[in-house]
Amino acid sequence: MAEGSNGTLLILGGTGEAVDLAAAAVARFGPALRVVTSRAGVTQDPAPVAGAERRGGFGGVDGLAAYLAAESVDLVVDATHPFAAAMSAQARAACLRAGVPRLQLLRPPWAPGPGDRWVEVADAAAAARALPGLARRVFLTTGRRGLESYAGCAGLWFLVRLIEAPDTPLPLPACQVVTGRPPFTLAAERDLLARHRIDGLVTKNSGGAAGAAKLAAAREAGLPVVLLARPAAEPGERAETVDQAMDWLARRV
Ligand SMILES: NC(=O)c1ccc[n+]([C@@H]2O[C@H](COP(=O)([O-])OP(=O)(O)OC[C@H]3O[C@@H](n4cnc5c(N)ncnc54)[C@H](OP(=O)(O)O)[C@@H]3O)[C@@H](O)[C@H]2O)c1
Repeated sequence: MAEGSNGTLLILGGTGEAVDLAAAAVARFGPALRVVTSRAGVTQDPAPVAGAERRGGFGGVDGLAAYLAAESVDLVVDATHPFAAAMSAQARAACLRAGVPRLQLLRPPWAPGPGDRWVEVADAAAAARALPGLARRVFLTTGRRGLESYAGCAGLWFLVRLIEAPDTPLPLPACQVVTGRPPFTLAAERDLLARHRIDGLVTKNSGGAAGAAKLAAAREAGLPVVLLARPAAEPGERAETVDQAMDWLARRV
């Protein structure tokens, strides 16, 4: 980016880190950097974001590459969720094609500690296979997508936590939906597990502090946790924290 120029940063969002990075970049660089956060548009009422915002898919690699050129984007930070593998792959391909530097902001995964009873599995289908014998009343926090995998789990009851209430019935034999968005406190997670007599948890290895309380509550209660492994990260430059991403930006703005 030329000295003194008003460059453009595109943050691929959908996480708390993306919101924090936009705030930090706007505060630090002011008018020297136009900060645009992109969201998929899945959540109806997302947290407000500093700088500009756009919503909705780009239309694959071609669409994103065209957007980068049309908006004269100088830098991209892919701060999407660790499980948003399609978007991250498209970001890598589009940035390579457009010659735009890209950083992936990827929080570290959770690791088991003393007292944890974790069963790590590759995907939702493997989680569904692992559940019988482990639990009967399951707290499921993996989001709306992939719930079909649990459709054949006869005899199990699911408490499903989603950001927003679903507009179609869930494909589960027996379930109840609770809505909520992170962060969750340990006290609230402890209470939820006790109130619904939960005896097992299924979650994604998202990492980060905002969703970690459920794991602590499960540990306290001695519950088994079926943990979906992350998809492989895209190659390229990577930061684990917003501060590290800010350092990467500071070297380029
Ligand atoms: N997967 C999760 O567990 C999870 C959890 C929390 C938050 N999120 C957030 O929710 C969004 C969707 O997640 P996903 O797992 O469905 O993603 P995905 O499978 O990787 O992406 C699906 C499609 O959604 C569009 N998209 C995704 N992120 C976008 C963004 N930041 N801006 C514009 N378009 C985006 C893209 O459409 P086009 O091909 O049309 O460009 C992409 O091909 C992501 O932004 C992610 O950060 C995901």
